[in-house]
Amino acid sequence: TPLSRIRNFSIVAHIDHGKSTLADRLIQLTGTVAERDMKEQMLDAMDIERERGITIKANTVRIDYPAKDGHTYVLNLIDTPGHVDFGYEVSRSMQAVEGSLLVVDATQGVEAQTLANVYTAIEADHEIVPVLNKVDLPAAEPDRVREQIEDVIGIDASEACLISAKTGVGIPDVLEAIVNRLPPPPEGDPDKPLKAMLVDSKYDQYLGVICIVRIIDGTLKKGDRIRMMKTGGTYDVDDVGVYRPAMTHVKSLGAGEIGYLNASIKQVRDTRVGDTITHEKRPCETPLPGFKPSVPVVFCGLFPVDANDFEDMRDAIEKLALNDASFTYEMETSAALGFGFRCGFLGLLHLEVIRDRLEREYDIELITTAPSVIYHLFRKDGERVDLHNPADMPDMTYVSHIEEPRIKATVMVPDEYLGDVLKLCQERRGIQLDLTYVGGRAMTVYDLPLNEVVFDFYDRLKSVTKGYASFDYEMIGYREDNLVKMSILVNDEPVDALAMMVHRDRAEMRGRAMCEKLKELIPRHMFKIPIQAAIGGKVIARETLSAMRKDVTAKCYGGDATRKKKLLEKQKAGKKKMRQFGKVEIPQEAFISALKMD
Ligand code: GTP
Repeated sequence: TPLSRIRNFSIVAHIDHGKSTLADRLIQLTGTVAERDMKEQMLDAMDIERERGITIKANTVRIDYPAKDGHTYVLNLIDTPGHVDFGYEVSRSMQAVEGSLLVVDATQGVEAQTLANVYTAIEADHEIVPVLNKVDLPAAEPDRVREQIEDVIGIDASEACLISAKTGVGIPDVLEAIVNRLPPPPEGDPDKPLKAMLVDSKYDQYLGVICIVRIIDGTLKKGDRIRMMKTGGTYDVDDVGVYRPAMTHVKSLGAGEIGYLNASIKQVRDTRVGDTITHEKRPCETPLPGFKPSVPVVFCGLFPVDANDFEDMRDAIEKLALNDASFTYEMETSAALGFGFRCGFLGLLHLEVIRDRLEREYDIELITTAPSVIYHLFRKDGERVDLHNPADMPDMTYVSHIEEPRIKATVMVPDEYLGDVLKLCQERRGIQLDLTYVGGRAMTVYDLPLNEVVFDFYDRLKSVTKGYASFDYEMIGYREDNLVKMSILVNDEPVDALAMMVHRDRAEMRGRAMCEKLKELIPRHMFKIPIQAAIGGKVIARETLSAMRKDVTAKCYGGDATRKKKLLEKQKAGKKKMRQFGKVEIPQEAFISALKMD
């Protein structure tokens, strides 16, 4: 295909504005998938994506489109994740295409992730075609939203396509706009040495690692011996092809094209997204600039509820990690929870996705410890230590100061909820950076500590705004603050799994809440049990669980021996799920509830 007949593009949108539905429509209208094979959300392959309606991993599809000008065009769509945790992947996949469709829900308008994603597209020098979706709904206000796009984003929206991805209205206009308003790939030379960008890679259980590539110069075909310029790995290409969206073999991929390559690569970790692929024999001179790898920022412990599941869990985690280079893990042991793993994630959604997959696909019941961020500890001797786990916190006498990661958070919200949002951000130690109004909505920007956000910020934000707020964030760096490790002691024994880092000013409140919760969760014993929160040696909150007065069997009036026996047996079985702390037994359930992010 000549370059002039290729269009490479992505779709950017806020979550739920209809990106996947539009992609489905484009695929359907061009007959890329026969009508009878059409499932909703073709591009969201993973079950969990389908179930939650969110796109997690970037996908790609090739569409042949016979345009009104009489020529057939090759349209390559790269689908990008919409959620904040995966913002970094959005920016990577955008480097591989020249244009974007900006989808905005005409009943909602511009939201926080609309902005974040469209700015990424603008930074990648994309041509942008605004598309107003959901015009079938009576609440649609295309004129207002058009104006808002111009005011807030600063791009011309006068020729925005008005569509309903649901009913199919306006889809032919979108296809024409892609051809007429988005640029073809810049000059690439098919005779030059191969230069291709590794856009993404994923693990297929039958085929091994599949790489998504964008060819800049040269040609890639089956049988080629390739080299990854960054990692130095060399491979024989077994297959090249395109997604339609099913994998379809092609003879070769040429300059400007996007497709897949399969070269018997063992694990996703052997591929570095952003790497330059070239031929071993005739390499290109300069590699592409490449990307920074995405690094985990949120950490937590994952432990099997049933210790017998540990080996299965190790296998499952290894398998998941094969397909997800941004997920990290290492073994961890806890006195409270036994053997498990300390895992690193891109954000809370990423954490939830991995946890759900372990529970669902591998059938392992898990306990998740409180999510934490990476703190920088500066020791008195000047050395910096990165703290991933509050349990590893050294004695404060060695520590000169502690720095924590901060984020720049953008919240967009209808006016009437603004007060509650400001209050929430303030409570979470936020510093307001900006407050503006755009078309009936307020946009506020805060500098916030990440640790206050990973705790339960999303949920609180959703509840105080009845779901009307949108939120996006980026990391801005580390800053010193008065941070301490809070320990929880049950009957004077510290419970490692419940330790957490908190700001000194918030410690009392968090400590009190935790003690109150545990008092409800721990069953009474024959003696009194103090439950305390402490910083260093100093107790900051305390509850006392009073002693049990009656024997459990007392309520089975004397005579009925079988009933008594049954009750005791039941108790014994229950005990297996107990953990012993000194003299106190704490049921597994108590940890699950105490650590629940609510
Ligand atoms: P992520 O993939 O999670 O980023 O979301 P998305 O932007 O892809 O949104 P999706 O396509 O899943 O659509 C969100 C919801 O809006 C779904 O329930 C769709 O059925 C609905 N929807 C999408 N387009 C339209 C439309 O044109 N009209 C109406 N009424 N509903 C639509």
